Amino acid sequence: MDQYIIKGGKSLAGEVSIGGAKNAALAILAAAVMSDEVVTIENIPDVRDINVLLEAIEDIGVKISRTDAHTVKVMGCRLNSVNVDSDSVRKIRGSYYLLGALLGKYKTAQVALPGGCNIGSRPIDQHIKGFEALGAQVKIQHGLIKAQAEKLKGNHIYLDLISVGATINIMLAATLAEGQTIIENSAKEPHVVDVANFLNSMGANIKGAGTDVIRIKGVEKLHGSTYSIIPDQIEAGTFMLAAAATKGDVLIKNVIPKHLEAITAKLVEMGAEVEEFDDAVRVVATKKLGHTQVKTLAYPGFPTDMQPQITTVLAISSGTSIVTESIFENRFKYVDELTKMGASIKVEGNTAIIDGVSELTGAIVSAPDLRAGAALVIAGLAADGITTVEQVEYIERGYENFEKKMLELGAMMAKIDSSNEKAIRKFKLKVG
Ligand code: EPU
Repeated sequence: MDQYIIKGGKSLAGEVSIGGAKNAALAILAAAVMSDEVVTIENIPDVRDINVLLEAIEDIGVKISRTDAHTVKVMGCRLNSVNVDSDSVRKIRGSYYLLGALLGKYKTAQVALPGGCNIGSRPIDQHIKGFEALGAQVKIQHGLIKAQAEKLKGNHIYLDLISVGATINIMLAATLAEGQTIIENSAKEPHVVDVANFLNSMGANIKGAGTDVIRIKGVEKLHGSTYSIIPDQIEAGTFMLAAAATKGDVLIKNVIPKHLEAITAKLVEMGAEVEEFDDAVRVVATKKLGHTQVKTLAYPGFPTDMQPQITTVLAISSGTSIVTESIFENRFKYVDELTKMGASIKVEGNTAIIDGVSELTGAIVSAPDLRAGAALVIAGLAADGITTVEQVEYIERGYENFEKKMLELGAMMAKIDSSNEKAIRKFKLKVG
């Protein structure tokens, strides 16, 4: 099994370029099968979850051709099955977007219950409520979600809670329903807007994405399109916090600074300098950062996907900080790993109370999920000595060339198979 070995203590410096947004790409790839014409999608991140979804789409007969690592052409007309089920597809979350896409187009779909990171219970009742409101019958049987409708008819849907997945899934199905659908209390995340823009580029009629009321006028069919996915807000935020944790100076390029405002505001409060450009942000941290309070919220609030990374930076900032996780109930599992590195964090329910320590020290830790894995790498980069981060396959679900990008910023780290003792020894000798 691959692991990252990191020699900490080096300030990150230089430039890093951010890839396309994983969570937008998952939905956009699913949406692309709704057209019978060729759809070209650019700026797709080359990460594990995306590749699993692409395989699942190919498995149902859709022809996918990869022009380069970040561009795919999707030919939805070749589809020959609406049954999406395989061991790998059960492990990712984004596969549930095929439910909305296939239901919208073929009025029937069967998709394996979604997996994804184990960060708390992740019900899909709001997705089902939306599909049913559009006229579908939805059953869960033998680990599959089965949705079927004679026809889909627009409706007024009020989401009981803000859900990115349910907002997008209902939007997909409603795009090809008869009449108007109104989704109230919808999620406003940048990738919800990106998916709506993509659907509109194929001829859909969606208004209001990015606000809490989305209006969709159903259309009969969708045509081909060429579309480029927005930059990944969470990858960008992760590098911003890695720069802050290591007292670095990093220019994070190919971003939309507006999407990063919640992260920028917290970093500035903690004492870092953040300079915004048209499509880049520069983070400079020359001194020890200070404490703050963070509560994760739906966009434009502080993203839950950045919670482990900011908690890690606060663990080495001065004073006592409080981080409240209000989206997923089980997203503090990595705290035990940080404790092994010397952090002083007490978790009570959905709140972490963090007493900043003067430094972390290297240890062997294990990534419990994608974002927590990235946070442990940040901890390793800032820590004194050598840190080994196991289970890097979680990190590779959502970060492309993570260690390569860190190396380009001057980090001392390597990805080495845990059984390759010679390579591990060599790395340790090299970094001293
Ligand atoms: N929820 C329900 N019922 C539903 C849907 C959601 O109760 O039908 C609850 C969830 O349990 C959670 C909250 O609503 O407490 C928000 O969940 P949401 O539906 O917004 O999340 P998701 O669609 O499951 C996506 C991302 C996550 C990201 C969240 C929040 C994908 C594939 N996943 O998950 O990304 O944390 O939105 O922004 O888009 C990640 O990338 O590491 C990741 C976990």
